[in-house]
Amino acid sequence: MNGPVVRPRRLRTSRAMRRLVAETRVHRAELILPMFVREGIDAPVPIASMPGVVQHTLDTLRAELVRAAELGIGGVMLFGIPQQKDAVGTCATTEDGILNVAIRAAVEEVGDALVVQSDLCLDEFTDHGHCGVLDDRGRVDNDATLERYREMAIVQAAAGSHLLGLSGMMDGQVAAVRDALDAAGHTDTAVLAYAAKYASAFYGPFREAVQSSLSGDRRTYQLDSGNRREGLREADLDLAEGADVVMVKPAMGYLDVLAATAARSTVPVWAYQISGEYSMIVAASQNGWIDREQAVDESILGIRRAGADAVLTYFALEAAERLRQAGGTTT
Ligand code: PBG
Repeated sequence: MNGPVVRPRRLRTSRAMRRLVAETRVHRAELILPMFVREGIDAPVPIASMPGVVQHTLDTLRAELVRAAELGIGGVMLFGIPQQKDAVGTCATTEDGILNVAIRAAVEEVGDALVVQSDLCLDEFTDHGHCGVLDDRGRVDNDATLERYREMAIVQAAAGSHLLGLSGMMDGQVAAVRDALDAAGHTDTAVLAYAAKYASAFYGPFREAVQSSLSGDRRTYQLDSGNRREGLREADLDLAEGADVVMVKPAMGYLDVLAATAARSTVPVWAYQISGEYSMIVAASQNGWIDREQAVDESILGIRRAGADAVLTYFALEAAERLRQAGGTTT
């Protein structure tokens, strides 16, 4: 008898067999849709660098939220684009600020079915585009920014947000926000820490999405791409400060950081497939270079396989639609 005795291909002979032996599955509840809401528009505005993604009006936000709930995804992450931006991001902490209004609308519309999450960061609200406030030499002032985050947290929690997404990468932001929430009685409002958030070229389309005017970069607060250990240090700190969920971002270029974080975390670990990751897949598929559906599903599955318990992705609805047709999961 010649030929191999051990034949791994046996487990790949049929669709049914492959389905049975699948090691990783994606469920619709593990998908979170990031959404943009813009103040002062009466129709949705397409984001050119993210074909298929729009800046919503409050009305179209509500309609899309209903669709998201029907499709059974796990939650949404809201970003607001205010009409007025200034040095301290005033509109982030006013009750009628667009993000806070959007949170109230979302909670009212789908708050029982979806986890309503909100971005807690200043870059959408500042005229200089940084994630914090600046000192008199133009540097991002960590501790002054924490004061603004504390105020944002209380306003967002009062608006009903279930989970605050701390994406600013300031030192001590989880402890500061947790303390502010607890002191104001919002002990049930959870904190998602963007623990390992890397300075990335792949945020490019997001800057258009939120009309950010950033000149310069975020390298004094976001991590350098090559630093895995430093990412783990950030995750450890956020866990110690009381984060309810930690996140790695971007996703596809940082799967090793994700796997290592998942191996040591005692809370859920999520990953954010960011704007540029979305745009790359969409652009290549629009050129006919890759198959969109397969590329989307494969990318999300890969992020899950690396250790993400849930994935923030602009593909959430189309992936959920396919998963529903497939009976809840894909392989
Ligand atoms: C900061 C924030 C950013 C993203 C989410 N939250 C931008 C940045 O850090 O530059 C990027 C998300 C994406 O690219 O899809 N508020």
